[in-house]
Amino acid sequence: MSIRTDIKTVAVIGTGTMGSGIAQVFAQSGRTVLMSDAVPGAVDKALAGIGKFLDKSVAKEKITADQAGKIKGNLKPSTIADAAGTDLIVEAITENPQVKCDLYAELNKSVPPDVVFGSNTSSICISQLAAASGRPEQFIGMHFFNPVPIMKLVEVVVGLQTAAPVVEFTIDLAKQLGKIPHRVKDHPGFVSNRVLMPLINEGINCYADGVADAVTVDEVMKLGCNHPMGPLALADLIGLDVCLHIMEVLHRDLGDDRYRPTPLLRTMVRAGLLGRKSGKGFHNYEHK
Ligand code: CAA
Repeated sequence: MSIRTDIKTVAVIGTGTMGSGIAQVFAQSGRTVLMSDAVPGAVDKALAGIGKFLDKSVAKEKITADQAGKIKGNLKPSTIADAAGTDLIVEAITENPQVKCDLYAELNKSVPPDVVFGSNTSSICISQLAAASGRPEQFIGMHFFNPVPIMKLVEVVVGLQTAAPVVEFTIDLAKQLGKIPHRVKDHPGFVSNRVLMPLINEGINCYADGVADAVTVDEVMKLGCNHPMGPLALADLIGLDVCLHIMEVLHRDLGDDRYRPTPLLRTMVRAGLLGRKSGKGFHNYEHK
């Protein structure tokens, strides 16, 4: 098995919060990024968000206007079909196993076999996606963290059939992006969400039980445990729908009731209170 390791062009498929951040860090590393999304308007929204971030960075004198211009120039709105001409696929589409499996099966028909497929999934079984991709040895989890341009970690999730050179390649690539990679096994929630989501869930339980209001729950964890933000504010940042989905995966795949999603989380998702992206979650963002 040979894989392409000299990555000049990357296809980032799915340009929501995570895909947009991933596209930005690849563009910052000097690579051409083909951005595509099945949702109309999603790529334009992502480009506008990245543009705003870069303009602020110029204003703060963190980068020059010339550097910002080059990064913007590396980002190309594109279609999923164009991925066939790239050196690497990084997928960050909706967290639905069937939709992801269908996408990979489709990509496998046109993308050359030496191109690695990376998934940013936060909880779906990498080995399952790998099997559907038709190239399980060239498949790996590249789990970035929100906000991607700021957070240092890439959790490199190794599937049952991922080949050793693909792991080495991914670790090296993450370093080239200025990130710190850590290799973990394909197991429900990996390390990050196995630990983080029950903490957030328990924060919601405290709030639901009336132990304290939302601001107090968050302040306790910030001031008492030195967390950069409290669990409820973090749930709002991640998206309550994403948190619920991950808790459901942990509960189902680990088969233990200690991972039971708290009913309030489910009710808030049903009510459309998803956090920052909907304007309201545990805190209100409508006027920000
Ligand atoms: N996008 C891009 N940049 C952002 C940002 C965003 N959403 N939010 C903040 N920043 C930048 C700010 O512009 C600022 O940059 P400068 O230093 O250049 O000024 C920097 O981050 C610090 O921001 P602030 O001073 O406003 O606030 P802060 O010091 O509280 O930092 C934070 C903000 C980085 C988000 C910090 O609160 C933090 O680290 N929170 C925890 C985030 C976290 O846990 N993320 C992981 C979520 S889990 C996940 O993503 C994976 C999953 O599978 C669910």
